[in-house]
Amino acid sequence: MKKGEAKHKIEQISEQLRTHNYSYYVLSEPSISDYDFDMLLEELQKLEEQFPQFAFEDSPTKRVGGEITKNFKTVKHKYQMLSLGNSYSKEDIVDFETRIKKLVENELEYICELKYDGVAIGITYENGKLVQAVTRGDGVQGDDITANVKTIRSIPLQLKGNDYPDEFEIRGELFYPKNVFEALNKEREEIGEDLYANARNTASGTLKMQDSSIVAQRKLDCYLYFVLGENLPFETHYESIEKAGEWGFKIPTEKRNYIRKCKSIDEIFEFINYWDKERNNLNFEIDGVVIKVNNYARQEEIGFTAKSPKWAIAYKFKAEKVSTKLLEITYQVGRTGSITPVANLQPVLLAGTTVKRASLHNADQIEKIDVRVNDTVFVEKGGEIIPKIVGVEVKQRDIFSEPTKYIDSCPECETTLVRKDGDAKHYCPNEWGCPPQIKGKMQHFISRKAMNIDGLGEETIDLLFKTGLAITIADLYELNYDQLFELESFKEKKSQNIIDGLIDSKQIPFERVLYGIGIRYVGETVAKKLARQFKNIDKISSASFEELIAADEIGDKIAESIIYFFSVGENVELINRLRVHVQFELSEDQLANATTKLEGLIFVVSGVFSKFSRDELKNTIEQNGGKVSSSISKKTSYIVAGENMGPSKLAKAEKLEVTIINEDKFLKLIQ
Ligand code: IVH
Repeated sequence: MKKGEAKHKIEQISEQLRTHNYSYYVLSEPSISDYDFDMLLEELQKLEEQFPQFAFEDSPTKRVGGEITKNFKTVKHKYQMLSLGNSYSKEDIVDFETRIKKLVENELEYICELKYDGVAIGITYENGKLVQAVTRGDGVQGDDITANVKTIRSIPLQLKGNDYPDEFEIRGELFYPKNVFEALNKEREEIGEDLYANARNTASGTLKMQDSSIVAQRKLDCYLYFVLGENLPFETHYESIEKAGEWGFKIPTEKRNYIRKCKSIDEIFEFINYWDKERNNLNFEIDGVVIKVNNYARQEEIGFTAKSPKWAIAYKFKAEKVSTKLLEITYQVGRTGSITPVANLQPVLLAGTTVKRASLHNADQIEKIDVRVNDTVFVEKGGEIIPKIVGVEVKQRDIFSEPTKYIDSCPECETTLVRKDGDAKHYCPNEWGCPPQIKGKMQHFISRKAMNIDGLGEETIDLLFKTGLAITIADLYELNYDQLFELESFKEKKSQNIIDGLIDSKQIPFERVLYGIGIRYVGETVAKKLARQFKNIDKISSASFEELIAADEIGDKIAESIIYFFSVGENVELINRLRVHVQFELSEDQLANATTKLEGLIFVVSGVFSKFSRDELKNTIEQNGGKVSSSISKKTSYIVAGENMGPSKLAKAEKLEVTIINEDKFLKLIQ
């Protein structure tokens, strides 16, 4: 392809992808199938690899992150990040109106919006480009989390149209959509991590992750609610939000009743009452409604207190709470043997759903609230997904009732439970004999992100376990067609599907096999890092604690868990049986380009390259044992500079006297 043609094509596909992204992530109205989107993205990736000089700095291919931030820079807010006064009743809102009516003569119009329960962010745009994103912090200064925010698909990197101010800040709330949060917890459950209890705190944690490529996978979302700047071209808050929508931001719409112009307290209350009931049907958490004076001139007349604008107020919903009877406490055994006590309740309506069960977390929690069978308990649904028991109506307690005695043996296999120091949970240690643990291991192994074995599902695993045909993951590979065909309700096709799925899974790359064997705390990302750094299963199993924690992203907890896994005889035997079936090392391809030539060196990559895309260059550094960092420091060994290296990076490199090399010199380092 000629250069001119490539340039044009890159521009064209980038624009198409931006538009599709906007439809999908901002409007939630997909305009193309996932498959076609991926095909376009792949085409662009290939073109950008061939012609990196034409790739946009904010190309749709760059949403995958990769920048590592060790210490988030503290940044002073240009406009202080204020909070809002709270209100809890109609009287509070009447008082709010009375207060401001004393300050203005004109008739007032209000805007009611949802109060998103997430993490506040201020994002600055210059000439239509996202330049900085800062957390609230203490309101005066916050953390610069730009690299992480840039991976969030519903936040535009480049604005649409041409009527945006040269410089402005937009504020909004970052959050996990409910379904994304649930999926995240499901994954945690699969690798044996404790579940996240609360979506907001989890979002806040994600935004402080050092590796932006992990943030990119996390599917955070963002609604924007406030535009700030000098001489903004609007007269009202409502206009500013509408305009922000035109520039490509995700904003609340009247169509969905997420935002409403109101003239009176009654209208405001209609909005509040509507959402108090309907909020359970949203795919994101809200904890109230925000009421704002619409007109900027009126806002200015009304002014601010030290902490918050006097022209706006938050109305907070009450956490829904009901009382019901605790019928029984049962105990669930997870894949890793962790025991979760569950309260079985007299069914009761709460936050739009019938609640029959609530988590009791662990033995300490039960003791703390002293909850007993037959008690009348209070159940609440706050920011947490699983309803919780927040208290007991002691007055109604039967005088003969006795404190709950926590179980000391496994409800599934009767093995005596253990509780390690510092662990809140009890565990069943009978890893190889406890049915839910055995089945859980197999289910994890066949799951989509691990071996993705077509035809095998939960029911079949149950059946294989019950009939004794497979009780370990290695047994799966020793199944034959006839054994399957004889099973109840198995016909030719179903049996053959499973056999084919198993054969196909033999090609699944090492990192996914490593994830699939189910070492506690080894999730997808950790498995990838381990595979890349140790290259095969034997090097991992024989690595010392020191060697493990020296690897990227591997902390004490993971290292201990890996060492424990390979110290168990059953696991060693399992690995040896699996060895003939699955990939326990990096493929030739993955290995061919790997060396340790860059071990101990830290690189910063800047600018545009002709022989690599930036991601390729970073991968090459890592494959050869080097580390990539996003910021220049005294520890930086080399800066690999392409064309258009940023001037601030150049100045810093010169100041710290870090060696700058071009891509040819870099290639010499690894040859
Ligand atoms: S406006 C000066 N609008 O709630 C006014 N804030 O408790 C700035 N929040 O600091 C805030 N939804 O983090 C505004 N629709 C909304 C909001 C909202 C959630 C957050 C925001 C704010 C906090 C106050």
